[in-house]
Amino acid sequence: MTHEASPRVALVTGAARGLGKAVAEVLAGQGVALLLVDILAERLEQTCAELRTRGASCTAFPADIRERANCIDAVEAAVTTYGGLDVLVNAAGLLRFDHAVDVPEAEFWQIIGVNAAAPFWFCQAAIPHLLASGGNIVNVLSQSALIGTPYAVPYSMSKGALLQLTRSLALEYVDMPIRINAVAPGGMMTEISEATRPPVDADFAKIKRYSGDRPPSQAAEVAAVVGFISSPAASAVHGAVWTADGGVTAG
Ligand SMILES: NC(=O)c1ccc[n+]([C@@H]2O[C@H](COP(=O)([O-])OP(=O)(O)OC[C@H]3O[C@@H](n4cnc5c(N)ncnc54)[C@H](O)[C@@H]3O)[C@@H](O)[C@H]2O)c1
Repeated sequence: MTHEASPRVALVTGAARGLGKAVAEVLAGQGVALLLVDILAERLEQTCAELRTRGASCTAFPADIRERANCIDAVEAAVTTYGGLDVLVNAAGLLRFDHAVDVPEAEFWQIIGVNAAAPFWFCQAAIPHLLASGGNIVNVLSQSALIGTPYAVPYSMSKGALLQLTRSLALEYVDMPIRINAVAPGGMMTEISEATRPPVDADFAKIKRYSGDRPPSQAAEVAAVVGFISSPAASAVHGAVWTADGGVTAG
């Protein structure tokens, strides 16, 4: 593991497992100091402990990011702990499949809260620090931000909102020293996909339209894309949506 003289600092949400954890591993490999956020407190501490064993600076910040105050506190904790912030990765996400007419109200707001509102609160709190450091934001979308996703309508809505958060912020800050981008994965082998199944009476032909022809990616493959975009090597990348979906949205 290589460490820079003055390491960059990153806040990664959803980092207890899955893609967020894989992103934390990639950034740790770049010598970035980490503040990791997740609602799964024990898994988060495990992830941090693993990274510290490998020589990384890692702080766990267990929190439910549906609460705006928690998002703001997490950003402040990163700045207080490490003296600044260079990278914000909004990777936490919640997926539920259901017939649109059956989606319970609480579930709808949970999905919107985690996938769309929380990244906005994190951006609000982080932007002043990222302007000071010349840093950047990477929002984790989904192919569902770009194409319709039957049986996952609130999820698709939430990722569409995150896409427009990315683009609108990129233009609002186009003349300032900050980069704002998104990565849009397709299916990945993570616990989100194990835990969620379409309704038993779903029309499989409609699901086939977005399931793709290639096998699902490993989280590490998508994390590598996030790792590059958030690095100084990607200095020309701003307002971009990088798909990593094995061709699903190519046509
Ligand atoms: N796995 C896929 O097939 C796939 C495809 C496209 C996009 N994505 C996106 O990738 C990102 C990572 O997903 P993943 O596949 O690693 O799933 P995952 O379920 O393994 O990881 C998501 C993480 O977000 C955390 N989280 C959920 N609600 C939270 C809350 N209220 N407060 C704090 N943390 C919370 C979870 O605890 C979990 O650790 C998500 O944004 C997801 O929408 C996943």
